[in-house]
Amino acid sequence: MNQLKQRLGRGYARFATNVAVRLPRLWPLVRPLVRKQFDLLAPVWDSMRSPDAFAPFGAALATVDGPVEAALDVGTGTGAAALAIAERFPTARVVGVDIAPEMVERARQKTRDRGKLSFEVGDASALPYDVASFDLVTAANMIPFFDELARVVRPGGTLVLAFSLGPQTPIYVPPERMRKELVARGFTEFAEIQAGRGTALVARKG
Ligand SMILES: C[S@@+](CC[C@H](N)C(=O)[O-])C[C@H]1O[C@@H](n2cnc3c(N)ncnc32)[C@H](O)[C@@H]1O
Repeated sequence: MNQLKQRLGRGYARFATNVAVRLPRLWPLVRPLVRKQFDLLAPVWDSMRSPDAFAPFGAALATVDGPVEAALDVGTGTGAAALAIAERFPTARVVGVDIAPEMVERARQKTRDRGKLSFEVGDASALPYDVASFDLVTAANMIPFFDELARVVRPGGTLVLAFSLGPQTPIYVPPERMRKELVARGFTEFAEIQAGRGTALVARKG
């Protein structure tokens, strides 16, 4: 029964990703179930992650030169990627945003004493941040809302999109599709990375 639930959950995540990337205006229809799904997964999320889940994210992050004074991790879940950014750029202000309040609560509990790291509930399709307000924006295993990602990265800033299991990741967008969407929004330099069982795309905004 649990396996069936997991398969249905992965299937819905894939479906929601396709809707959001191809028909972003329909996102409000799939959003409630996505939020519910991840609220329910929050208590067990960390135990579901394999040890190499952040290998592609870490490898991508290692290529980012900086300066990074402000960074945003979108769809942060329990905050692992945001924490990795805070460790790589200790002086940066790092924000993790997620639509599922239960995920955000767990991220906050894990990182209580990290002054420059904070977590907020918010929807990646309408981020509550100003234009060009981040030097670095990341999303790991997260549906990319390209308009909003491009809006909040500053010119010359960097975007990292990582998928723990490459094409096997339930939430996954192929690199050629991501490049096409990002070129159309002013990104000019790209690097594709493979690490562990996963992949990442690093993109720089012109
Ligand atoms: C597969 S999990 C990945 C979590 C984390 N980045 C990781 O790799 O462990 C996807 C996360 O994205 C969040 N999410 C999905 N749609 C979102 C949206 N529109 N805005 C913000 N967060 C969203 C979910 O609540 C969930 O926590």
